[in-house]
Amino acid sequence: ASPALAQVPQSVHQSCMICHGQTGENTIYPMVPRLGGQQVQYLAWQLKQFKSHTRADQNAQIYMWPVAQAMTQQEIQLVAKYYAAQSPMHSASSPRPGVSAGKQIFLQGIAAQGVPACMACHAVNATGRGIFPRLAGQRYGYIVQQLTYLHDGNRVNPIMQPVAEKLTNRQMQDVAAYLSGL
Ligand code: HEM
Ligand code: HEM
Repeated sequence: ASPALAQVPQSVHQSCMICHGQTGENTIYPMVPRLGGQQVQYLAWQLKQFKSHTRADQNAQIYMWPVAQAMTQQEIQLVAKYYAAQSPMHSASSPRPGVSAGKQIFLQGIAAQGVPACMACHAVNATGRGIFPRLAGQRYGYIVQQLTYLHDGNRVNPIMQPVAEKLTNRQMQDVAAYLSGL
């Protein structure tokens, strides 16, 4: 086991790996995010939001509230460091339709709809930074689901919501096709 894993109490990482996989890569369903190489600050922030019930979309409530509830602040920091230190998530599946339209949205935004370029916050290669999550190699189904939650106001975030609100379903699928294939 890696040094970072040895730091995390077994009771914690054993439960996470059921859904997220040991390295945060082999997630059980498309709705479960990959965690490998995710930004450490973002990971810790999301776990705190599950614990405080600030992130309250349906899958958060069903799957993540019970686990986050039981975690101490110290365990949150350790597990965030562990997943951030794993190999960055990447997709193994073949490209989906919509990649080139999605790439354009990511790099340039959609001026006619007032959508800013995603790369302004998520970084040019979608690696993320600090509180801005990595999106490169994330699961397609998860990306579409989160954009839908944010669009409908089921996941509340003052920075990301105004962006998601302006996207059509088709545009969400296109940008997810691009990002999940990186
Ligand atoms: C989301 C960590 C256990 C299912 C997340 C996220 C983090 C995380 C950081 C947010 C990722 C992001 O926003 O990109 C952990 C840790 C666990 C754990 C550290 C162990 C202590 C589990 C288990 C399940 C699960 C046991 C399945 C029963 C999910 C699902 C989501 C999620 C479905 C997406 C929630 C949503 O759509 O809002 N997890 N997780 N996780 N996790 Fe876990
Ligand atoms: C979160 C996509 C533009 C800031 C997210 C998530 C996705 C996403 C899928 C959820 C990631 C996860 O749960 O792991 C996009 C796309 C964009 C875009 C496709 C362009 C159309 C932006 C811009 C900003 C931004 C321009 C900054 C002004 C954030 C922040 C979060 C986030 C702060 C975390 C939200 C939270 O904690 O609930 N984005 N994004 N995004 N995005 Fe974006």
